[in-house]
This record gives sequence, C-alpha cells and structure tokens, in this order.
Amino acid sequence: MLSVSNIEKTYAGRTLFSGVSFHLQRGERIGLVGPNGAGKSTLFGLLLGDGTPDAGAVMWEKGASVGFLPQESAPVGNQTVLELALDHIPDNLRWEAEPKAKKILRGLAFRQSDFERAARTLSGGWVMRAHLARLLVQEPDLLLLDEPTNHLDLESLLWFQDYLQGYPGAILMISHDREFLNALTDGIFEIARGSVYRYRGNYDDYVREKAAREAQHEAAFANQQREIAKLQRFVDRFKAKASKASSAQSKMKLIEKLDVLDAPETADKTVKFRFPQPRKSGQRVINLKNLDFSYGSTQVYNGLDLEIERGQRTVLVGPNGAGKSTLLKLLAGVLQPQGGTRELGYNVKLGYFAQYRMDTLNPNHTVLQSAMDLPDPVPEVTARTLLGSFLFRGDDVFKPVGVLSGGEKTRLALVKLLLDPPNFLLMDEPTTHLDMGSIDALIGALEQFEGTLVFISHDVHFIRAMATTVLHVDAGNLTPYAGDYQYYLDKTRAASARDALTASLTNHQPENPAFQSSENRGSSSKSKEQKRAEAEARQAKSRAKKEIESRISQIESTLEGKEKRRTEIVAFLQDPNAWSDAAKAMALQGEHDKIAEEIDSLTREWETKAGELEAMG
Ligand SMILES: Nc1ncnc2c1ncn2[C@@H]1O[C@H](COP(=O)(O)OP(=O)(O)OP(=O)(O)O)[C@@H](O)[C@H]1O
Ligand SMILES: [Mg+2]
Repeated sequence: MLSVSNIEKTYAGRTLFSGVSFHLQRGERIGLVGPNGAGKSTLFGLLLGDGTPDAGAVMWEKGASVGFLPQESAPVGNQTVLELALDHIPDNLRWEAEPKAKKILRGLAFRQSDFERAARTLSGGWVMRAHLARLLVQEPDLLLLDEPTNHLDLESLLWFQDYLQGYPGAILMISHDREFLNALTDGIFEIARGSVYRYRGNYDDYVREKAAREAQHEAAFANQQREIAKLQRFVDRFKAKASKASSAQSKMKLIEKLDVLDAPETADKTVKFRFPQPRKSGQRVINLKNLDFSYGSTQVYNGLDLEIERGQRTVLVGPNGAGKSTLLKLLAGVLQPQGGTRELGYNVKLGYFAQYRMDTLNPNHTVLQSAMDLPDPVPEVTARTLLGSFLFRGDDVFKPVGVLSGGEKTRLALVKLLLDPPNFLLMDEPTTHLDMGSIDALIGALEQFEGTLVFISHDVHFIRAMATTVLHVDAGNLTPYAGDYQYYLDKTRAASARDALTASLTNHQPENPAFQSSENRGSSSKSKEQKRAEAEARQAKSRAKKEIESRISQIESTLEGKEKRRTEIVAFLQDPNAWSDAAKAMALQGEHDKIAEEIDSLTREWETKAGELEAMG
C-alpha cells in the first residue's frame, strides 16, 4: 500500500536518516521506535507529503486512504465534539455512523454532556482525543499515529488498545509504550544511527533480537580489532627489514582494505551529575483539612484531609475520574477549594509540572538560553552539564526551541525545573514523550532529589523506581499505603502491576486504623459460651479463608505456567517458517487452543474465589 525508497532527510547539516526503504502491506501493524529526536515524527511528515525528502521517493497505492494523528497539537474549527468525530462522514450518511461515533467517544472517556460541546473549548489533551475519535470513525486504510497514548489516561488507553486490536486497516504508530506496542504490533521499525531497521514480532521480540544482534556485532568488532592489531604489529616490526618489507606492505594493504566495523554503542545511562538541591522545608510540607471541592454540580471531594511529610515520594493511583489530577491541582493551589483549609508548611517552595507544559517555552530561544532563563541565574557550565545528562549534546544546545521534537521539549522543561528545583514537586505524567533513556535520566535526577514529591504516572517502571508511598484515590476517598509500589501490590493482591494503577480497591486490608473493624469492642459483657462460640466461628472462618487463599495462589502459579507456555507457542507459530512442518504446527495449534480454554476456566475460578475471599472481609 505504501513504498518508500531510499529517502534521506537532513536538517542544518545533520543527517537524520538516509537510504531508508520499506514497504507497508495492507493490514500490517508496525511500531516505529527510536530515541527522542531520532526523526520519527519527521519520517511521518515525509510519508504525508509534509516536507520533501532530500533524496528518494514515497509512493502510495492509488486510492489508499490514510488518517494521521500528530504528536503535539491539531487544530479544531467551530464544530462540536460529535461533529468533529463525524468529520469525514458525508452528511447523508451521518445518522448511520452516529452510534459508532458515540461509542468511540465514550470509550475515550468523553461524557454524554461533552458531545454537543464546542471542540475548541476542550483542553489540549481532549482535543487530541477528539481527533483520535475522528480517525477511528473514519476508519482509513492506514492509521498513522504519532504517540497516541500520550493523551490518554490508563483506562482509555486500555479501551483504545482493545479497539485497535479489532481495527480492520493497517497501523503504523510511533510509541514509547512497551506494553501497548507488545499488544498491537507484528513488526517494529527502528530508527537508529541514521537508518531504519525492520524487525519481526512485537516490541519484546525486537528487544531480544536487537540484543542478540548487538552481542553478535560486539563479538565481530572485538575479533576484527584483534586481527587489525595483529597485522599492525607485524607491519610495525618488519617494515624496516628489507627481507620482510614486501609482506609488511601487503599486510598494510590488507588493513586498508578491511571494511572496518563501527564500534558498538555503549549506552551511558547513569547520571553522573550532582543536581542542585533546594533549601530544606519544614517537616510538615502541606496540610489539607476538611476540603470540599466540586466542578459545578459534580462533587469530587467532601471533607478531605491529607498531610504530606518532607522527603516522601508519593504516587497517586486509582480509577479514571477518581480525582487524581484534581487532587494534584488542589495541592498545587491551581484549583481553589470551596471549603476547608490548605496550609503550606514552613519554607515550602512549590513547583507544579503539568501535562501540557511545553507551551510555556519560548520557541525563538535556543535550548541553552531557555535553560538559563531562570529567576536565579546559574553558570553556563552547570546548565550545559545538566542539558548533557538529558542528552542535549554538542551543538544541540544551540537549536531553537521551536524545532525541538516532542521528547526534546519535555526534556528541556525538566532541565529547567531541575536547575532551580522547588522543595515540593508536583508532577502530572512527567514521562510523557520521553524515550527510555530519558526516563532513566529523570529517575537518576529524582533519586538525588532531597525534597518532597507527589506525582501521577502510568509508567510502572517509573513508579517502581520513584514511589516510597502510595495514595489510592477513589470516589473522593483516600487510602494511604506506607510502602513502595510492590508493597501496595502485595496489599491489594493486584492481578497485574498495570491494572492495579486504576483498580478500585476490593481485596485490600486498609491500613488506616480509623477503618479497622470494632468487632472486639465490649466483649467483657459477653458470657463464656458466647465467647467460645464466637472464637470457634472465627477459627472456622479463618480456616475457610486460608483454604481459599491457598487455592488462589495455586491457581495463580498454574496460570503463570500456562501463560508462559501459550506465549511460547504463539511466538513459535508466528514465525512463517513454523508451518513448513505442518504436522508439528497443527499439534501446537491444538495444544494452544486447549491451554487457552484452561486459562479461561482457571481465570473464572480465580475470580470466583477472589470474590468469596472479599465477601469474608
Ligand atoms: N526545522 C528544523 N531545523 C533543525 N532541526 C530540526 C528541524 N525540525 C526538526 N529538527 C530536529 O530533527 C530531529 C528529529 O525530530 P523529530 O521530531 O522527527 O524526532 P522524533 O524522533 O519524533 O522525537 P520524539 O521521540 O522526541 O518525538 C530533532 O533533533 C529536531 O530537533
Ligand atoms: Mg516525535
């Protein structure tokens, strides 16, 4: 459907990529990956005819339709949200498409009352969601999506992932979200070192294959270096001797003729830079007392109490719409409560890192100017070192902000924040747009941070590295967990680390003493028999509970084994060569179907048992 041959793109003397060729067939699902600034969005632009390649050509099959979601912003006119979603549907067919459009909008978490709202009154993230809905309604032959999950909360993301699984057309998408890519792709294009490499399978397959290729490359490189050194020693030793001069000459030629391999890339992941530390705040950083907050008639918090202490790094988790971002904004003082008090502690300097923060950077400044544009000036060398640890190297720091890629802008915003850090940091999805190397740089920086942090994220890797306490937010209720993310998972018996981010609490044991049951109170007035009967009942209940718990963990470990086997089979069968031994492939297919049924029934049993356990309290 799409052919790209030998294209090349250069900006300001730097070649992003050259000699890039690939084909895209109908129905294929490809993830385009590579570090921030590698040229992914630029490549999309070239496919769409937005900008011309410096060499090569892009060819589309005649009549193929394409729908594009840009990375950062897309304009809207005067339409309502629903009209925008139906934008590509001819007026006389709209009635037919309307139920589908509504379903998609709801899946992306729009409320019924938003449908008739003017799209331009939405915030940036919601405009992008509305465009996403438009593309799904239009259903083009190829969806070109540039980091579509950036604009979604986790629940909408899971809905979207599910929807794309049944999508009839081809998909080519840029994403840094590993799980999303794993669920959806059957091939990966990687932009690296100025070329595009194609890998079969999903993201994990790509990581494995890439590691194997790199190991191979390293070994080949080391061998070649040894060989060159040997030849060189011979040349050095004998070039002065008349009798050996000619063979020294020929060895010399051999070296010159060698197609010398590039040195393998060594990833420099650790942040060696010592970050400036903010002045210490008091022990009590913030205190919310009896806070009420509503959006219009929708009440979000009623009588909310919360205290945060110095040095805590708290992640907010809980279902979509539970009020996580609202809580962060109340803490930040961006939203004003209708009742109650908000008290900042002694010497607290607060910084709020919002989701759509890039708009505040001046596009005409260079990266370096922008980094140094702070209330308290820092020396240029400090700014450049920190920029370097966020991967702005060499001349990168003289680029104008206006041409930066999405990830580069986020990194610059983070650098500015870290050069003049507040001692109380509130962050809403700080890893959006960041590639994996930059996420690790951010983790490195925040690990040194001696202030207090409250954040929202749906990046499990980031949460695991950062959080020292977890605060579960659900329907205006807060449940604190005084431990890291694993502790929270253990306490809530979560089915998976990602699901637990948006879970409503069911199986958990609340920690807050105020929630604990009062069944032991007043026991002194009971008769002996009564007490014994109660004790027996308690014991029976605890036995029954143990049995259920042990069955649950048995099911979990069986499931784990079966899932693993299923993954193996799927991986095997996805390889086109697998079917050359048809008998074996058929047998595996049979085994696969059987395992799938077993997994189904075990999962059902797990749900029942978990439900029983929950009912027992
Ligand atoms: N007009 C321009 N002049 C100079 N450099 C540019 C221009 N436009 C883009 N660039 C640079 O080209 C590089 C590639 O940008 P692109 O937006 O394609 O990256 P990307 O791979 O999509 O990155 P990200 O993951 O951050 O979105 C970036 O380093 C960017 O700064
Ligand atoms: Mg991009």
